[in-house]
Amino acid sequence: MSAAIWPITEKFAAEVGDIDLSQPLPAPDLDTIRAAFDTYAVLVFPDQRLSTEQHLDFARHFGPLETTIAKHRADAKLRVDEELADVSNLNEKNEVWSETSRQRMFSLGNRLWHSDSTFKYVPAYASALYARSIPPVGGHTEFVDMRAAYDALPEATKRRINGLVAEHSIFTSRAKLGFTDFSAEERAAMPPAPQAMVRTIPQTGRKCLYLASHAGRVFGLADDEGRELIESLMAHATQRAFVYTHRWRTNDLVIWDNRQTLHRGAAFDDLRWKRDVQRATVKDVANSCEQEGIATPIQAAG
Ligand code: OGA
Ligand code: MN
Repeated sequence: MSAAIWPITEKFAAEVGDIDLSQPLPAPDLDTIRAAFDTYAVLVFPDQRLSTEQHLDFARHFGPLETTIAKHRADAKLRVDEELADVSNLNEKNEVWSETSRQRMFSLGNRLWHSDSTFKYVPAYASALYARSIPPVGGHTEFVDMRAAYDALPEATKRRINGLVAEHSIFTSRAKLGFTDFSAEERAAMPPAPQAMVRTIPQTGRKCLYLASHAGRVFGLADDEGRELIESLMAHATQRAFVYTHRWRTNDLVIWDNRQTLHRGAAFDDLRWKRDVQRATVKDVANSCEQEGIATPIQAAG
C-alpha cells in the first residue's frame, strides 16, 4: 500500500498513513512525502517502531544531519547517539532529571517559541522528533505557520522588514530564562549568527517570517527598537489562528520545516513523568541571508 496524506489542518499539518519508516522507502512514497512536506510544514507519522539508525536514515532523506550541541562541553555525557538532540527529561542513566540539573535549566528554553538552530550560521532545515515515551498529561508541542503569519502582516510591515537581518544567539534565548551557565568552550563554539527576518521558500516561492527566541537584535536598528520589532512580530506570529498543537502518542514521529515554522514544548510534570523524545536534525543548505541574497553582517562562523 502506498503512503496516504490525511490533512489535520487545512494547510499546515498532515498525517502520513500506510507507511512503515523502519523499511527502505519506495521512491514514489518518498516523492509523496516530499511533496506533502512542501505543502504542509508539519507531518505526523503515527505508530512507528524505529531503531536509532532507522530514525536517522529517515531524516537523511532530507539532507545531511547536525550533531548535537551538547558535544561542545568537555564534560558531556550523552544518553543517545551524537547525531540526535536529546529532547527528553532523562539523564544518562535514563532517570528523570533532577529539579536543579543543568540539563533541565538549559532544556526549559525549548518552551520558548523558536526554530531549531537559527543560532548557527547554517540553521536547521527539517527536524524529525520521535517519541519513545510520552507523559499521560501535557507535554504537547505547538507549531506556528510562519507563512500564514507573514501573509497576514500589514503591507507596511512587510515593506519595513523586507531585507532586515536579525542576530540570533543561543545565549539570548537562555538569558531570557535567567540561564547563563555556559563554559568558555561553549561560548567560543556558538558565536551569534545573522538570519534574514523574511525568507522565501525555494520549493514554493512562499514568503515567511523567520524569527525565534534566539533573536535579540536587528542589524541597522537601535537595540531597543530592534527588540521591540522582534517582540511585536513574535506576538503577531504566535496568535492562536496560526498555531497547530500536536498531542503526542508514543511512537509518533513528527517532522517539521524549520524555515517556515516556530515551535515550543508545552509544560508537563517533568519531575514525575518520563518524556523520551529524540530529534534528528537536517541542516539547511546555507545561511538564510545567503539564500535571500542579502549581504551577511557577521562573518561566517561555520
Ligand atoms: C525540539 C523541541 C519541543 C518539545 O525537539 O526541537 O523544541 O515539545 N521540542 O519537545
Ligand atoms: Mn526545538
